[in-house]
Amino acid sequence: MKDIIETLRLGKGKDFINLSAGNPVILPEVEQLWRDCTAELLSSPEYGEVVCRYGSSQGYQPFIDVIVEDFNSRYGLNLTDRNVLITPGSQSIYFYATNAFGGYTTDGKLKKIVLPLSPDYTGYGGVSLIPEAVFSYQPKLDIDEVNHHFKYRPDFSQLIIDETTGCVIFSRPCNPSGNVLTEEEVKKIANLAANFNVPVFIDSAYAPPFPALNFTEMKPVFGDNIIHCISLSKAGLPGERLGIAIGNEITIQVLEAFQTNMCIHSPRYGQAIAARAIGSGALSEIAAEVIRPYYQQKFTVVETALNQAMPKNLPWFLHRGEGAIFAWMWFKDLPITDWELYQQLKEVGVIVVPGSSFFPGLQGEWSHKNQCIRISLTATNEEITEGMKRLATVIEQVYNHSIVGV
Ligand SMILES: Cc1ncc(COP(=O)(O)O)c(C=O)c1O
Repeated sequence: MKDIIETLRLGKGKDFINLSAGNPVILPEVEQLWRDCTAELLSSPEYGEVVCRYGSSQGYQPFIDVIVEDFNSRYGLNLTDRNVLITPGSQSIYFYATNAFGGYTTDGKLKKIVLPLSPDYTGYGGVSLIPEAVFSYQPKLDIDEVNHHFKYRPDFSQLIIDETTGCVIFSRPCNPSGNVLTEEEVKKIANLAANFNVPVFIDSAYAPPFPALNFTEMKPVFGDNIIHCISLSKAGLPGERLGIAIGNEITIQVLEAFQTNMCIHSPRYGQAIAARAIGSGALSEIAAEVIRPYYQQKFTVVETALNQAMPKNLPWFLHRGEGAIFAWMWFKDLPITDWELYQQLKEVGVIVVPGSSFFPGLQGEWSHKNQCIRISLTATNEEITEGMKRLATVIEQVYNHSIVGV
């Protein structure tokens, strides 16, 4: 990431096609929604109460009430306000969770933070104050050679969740791969964890009902040991830092205590406008009708451009586009590393993210780790199409040179 920022800064005059961004696109309908909610808050007597006063650590009560009502009616749950914690961004939930449930116990035993399927969100790499506590597992690969597609599956024959596990975390849909674990896979992981009273944090930063960045049918999974973690960042509010943890009261209390010590409570302005956007039903509607179709169409542009430009005889594979705002590619037996490929793409004016940064906690060597790239779906259609053409040229050279060199 540092190299990408430096490259963009130094190459001011150069027209890079930037396919590395994780920042969501500002969609006019989404911006308008937040403007309208802000205007409503500004003109209401609630304003002073929201910004001029401290509140409870758990969150702003009207916002918590809206979340409880929305999730109960949408998913037939029996949540009360004790099941909800509002945090400054969802990233902070993983910081609280990994450090409250993972790391060393007072008698020196290591409680692991288990990521059941690698690759996963790079942000889980640094959240634990005890880096050696993060463990992730190599997945199985479903490969469709003919159509140049693949999909990751959790490898239950390798996955260990036991008394040495402090907590489990995974993103669904997944950043970077766009993979959506099936309901059956999620329940299997949650059941394994339940045997040892281990909480499972399902990072739903891209899940329905908002931002609803799932391109395949998926329902959130709830359960006694599941903490459903929401982010409003991809629903147009990344600057306001707003995360929501929904789960059993005891786990929520642990997280809340951590939050009280760290920052007292989450800012209330974002919560007050989000209460309006969610309470009126506008956010879930815009998510399904504007946000999801926007990124889903971008994925189709990537897929079409790759099918047209990439050499059919080379072993390139696009992960199934099941959600999130990225496309993920694997180049089997890539003759160079992902980092070298990233550098070569820079030479032709295309910036992607080298894949190896998305395997936090993976033990042992796995060549696949150095054979992937992440492509952001935030660029224009023209940029994506041109970027894929340049990628195809570079990939052809990389594989063909290696064959000549043998
Ligand atoms: C999978 C995943 N989880 C969590 C986050 C952090 O989100 P927030 O802005 O809510 O802290 C991101 C941000 O990109 C993400 O991709």
